[in-house]
Amino acid sequence: MDYKKILELVIDNIDDGIFVVNKKGEVVFYNESADNQAGVSLNNALNKHILDIFPRLTEKTSTILRVLRTGIPIVGDIQEYYNHNHKKVTILTTSTPLIEDGEVVGVVEIARDMVKYGDFNKKIDKIRKNKGKKISYEKTIYSLNSILGESKEILEVKERIRKIAETNSSVLVSGETGTGKELVVQSIHNCSTRKDKPFIAQNCAAIPVTLLEGILFGTALGSFTGSKDSPGLFELADGGTLFLDEINSMDITLQAKLLRVIQDGYIRRIGDKKTRKVDVRIIVAMNINPIKALEEKKIREDLFYRINVLSIEMPPLRDRREDIRVLTDYFIKEMEAEVGRKTKGLSEDAANFFYNYDWPGNIRELKHVIEHSVIMSEGDKLTLEDMPYLLKDRSSLNEENVKEARCEIVFDKPLKSILNEYEKQVIEKALKEKNYSINDTSRLLNIPRQTLHYKMKNLGISIRKTL
Ligand SMILES: Nc1ncnc2c1ncn2[C@@H]1O[C@H](COP(=O)(O)OP(=O)(O)OP(=O)(O)O)[C@@H](O)[C@H]1O
Ligand SMILES: [Mg+2]
Repeated sequence: MDYKKILELVIDNIDDGIFVVNKKGEVVFYNESADNQAGVSLNNALNKHILDIFPRLTEKTSTILRVLRTGIPIVGDIQEYYNHNHKKVTILTTSTPLIEDGEVVGVVEIARDMVKYGDFNKKIDKIRKNKGKKISYEKTIYSLNSILGESKEILEVKERIRKIAETNSSVLVSGETGTGKELVVQSIHNCSTRKDKPFIAQNCAAIPVTLLEGILFGTALGSFTGSKDSPGLFELADGGTLFLDEINSMDITLQAKLLRVIQDGYIRRIGDKKTRKVDVRIIVAMNINPIKALEEKKIREDLFYRINVLSIEMPPLRDRREDIRVLTDYFIKEMEAEVGRKTKGLSEDAANFFYNYDWPGNIRELKHVIEHSVIMSEGDKLTLEDMPYLLKDRSSLNEENVKEARCEIVFDKPLKSILNEYEKQVIEKALKEKNYSINDTSRLLNIPRQTLHYKMKNLGISIRKTL
């Protein structure tokens, strides 16, 4: 047997994240699950220092760096952090030193995503506890008024929510991470006649298919070892709404079963002969483009056409820049109230930057950047210096160009000046390569034209000068 192949198969299919760093703390390997946890793809993470990938960790708080220093394993540490996509991640980690010739040459960390498991365990417990009792359900916190924004796109979304809420059909909500899908889904429920009935949300990612099937459909006594007679979420949500998040991660065969429920309105607990009628509105969400999901066979065609009749696509923040101002003002006020201090809002530079930045983490990213800066700022205005550095770090520069333009670094200035110098060289090189066409250069660097203009202005690059 080819043990290398076996190992690769295990590593690629395991739900736990596996991170391996060298003795300098730079990533030399991580698997797909680690990729999801970190919110940065392996390609972008390779050879980067672990603190660059997890900007909120420090030498002290990072278990990997602690193990690297001490050579002592840390087992069962629970860590909570916001990843590169500003998603909160709670992981249970085991970090083990890699020792060669008595020297620590790296660390392997295995990280279990507790949010997904916690959620799952809670649900199973609830199902069991509720057996035969009146069911208590999750509270929703968002309604239509929670959706801020004055752009045409957002007003249209709200109008659609109102219309969709009047029906009972299934709905597909799509949009990049952090665009407000959760708000939309809960608003549909809360605007509908089902609002006083259960709203139950289930994330379909990373739950093994057999478990998810049991969670959704319920199990009959003895249908498999140790199984109890338990209702599933379809039954728990009867009369209300069932929200299935990250539907593209749901196993294709289970998607077929879901389609059947949507069509017939009947479910059958696993191992049960009896079918049961359920009255549940199903809302599904995905943070990848639905057409792409279809092409990549992450969603069944028949299910897609059924749920896509009523759909809402959340526009990314960079496509409705006029909302940045409204959201910024709101989040600043909200945060000021929370921490009990008053600021004079964004500095002019910061406001310009906010307007031109691409916000890959969308509103979630904007919100966290503001929260961070209201806490960190010392002056009365919130300046770019108060923003977490990842904001400046993520100027979407294409790796290839960065490598090509890499210059000799001399530590004779503050970091910010060195970075500016570097960024200037990258942009100048890109401009030259594209014959100083702003359109082509912005495409090459994968940044909007406005951002390129803004950066050129800030870094003092004029085309004439470059020529
Ligand atoms: N239009 C909006 N107005 C006010 N707050 C918003 C808006 N859209 C999103 N938010 C806030 O941004 C954060 C992320 O929103 P949400 O959880 O709905 O994103 P999502 O699209 O479900 O992302 P993911 O795909 O990562 O689950 C939340 O804190 C939410 O309150
Ligand atoms: Mg969500």
